[in-house]
Amino acid sequence: MSNRTFTMIKPDAMEKGYAGQIIDRFEKEGFKLVALKLTKLSPEKAGEFYAIHKERPFYNDLVAYMSRGPIIAAILEKENAVTSFRELIGATNPVNAAEGTIRKEFAVSIEENAVHGSDSDENAAIEGDFFFNAFERVI
Ligand code: CMP
Repeated sequence: MSNRTFTMIKPDAMEKGYAGQIIDRFEKEGFKLVALKLTKLSPEKAGEFYAIHKERPFYNDLVAYMSRGPIIAAILEKENAVTSFRELIGATNPVNAAEGTIRKEFAVSIEENAVHGSDSDENAAIEGDFFFNAFERVI
């Protein structure tokens, strides 16, 4: 089991100025920052990141949303990171997110859901490599 996961603070949360509060939640829950970047995805890059959802009806909207403004990408470290982080962020749809989760507090809708969290160790590694080279992370 890997002890790292990958996250993004998405455009909706950045627009509302929630970045600091969300990173504070990560750290308070025991996640260590091992890579951090503020950037803006082009539609091409957002499409590439979410290529797995290409056939889904929400794909074009998702690409437009994820490329409309800045995001923060990060790699986080904690024991059992992927599972532990998904518990911290809560369900994809904030309506179903448990009390106290980040999405319950900060998300708007199933699409504009404030944060991303990798769904497996394998995807955490792939997604982290998408944003960060070896010089941009703690080894
Ligand atoms: P994330 O966990 O980053 O992975 C895929 C994203 O697609 C998801 O968060 C949401 O932003 C979006 N998404 C997932 N399901 C839906 C849906 N049914 N309608 C619109 N957007 C969705």
